[in-house]
Amino acid sequence: MSEDFLELPVAFMNEDHADFVEALAGLEALLEAGDLEAVGPAFEALLAHTREHFGREEAAMRQIQFPPYQAHKGEHDRVLGVLEQILAQWQAAPDVQKMREYIEDMRGWFHQHLDTMDRVTSVWLARNGIEQAPVEG
Ligand SMILES: [Fe+2]
Repeated sequence: MSEDFLELPVAFMNEDHADFVEALAGLEALLEAGDLEAVGPAFEALLAHTREHFGREEAAMRQIQFPPYQAHKGEHDRVLGVLEQILAQWQAAPDVQKMREYIEDMRGWFHQHLDTMDRVTSVWLARNGIEQAPVEG
């Protein structure tokens, strides 16, 4: 693990969070190396993974009919919208310094989100014995 983050009592959340942290570090490494061609695809992969990551949390919340579901999902949707904007901006006019700042902002958001909505959600999931994201058909 390339960076410490708050460990929650639910395994699948920790796995997704480790991937998120790794993806941000990977983006920074590409910027650092000047491999700008690779940044767009890496950001697309981060966005796709984040959609799945949020989707897993939302499916688990639905399974236990978690009361603050709408608020937590609303925050996920807001962040996905921000990520889409950052990607579009990069694709239109790559700006390394701006991208560095966005990554710092995402990291700040992530730790704050982990320590609030995700923490509360994970305690409820753990109380309900949920360790893995439910598969919804
Ligand atoms: Fe979340």
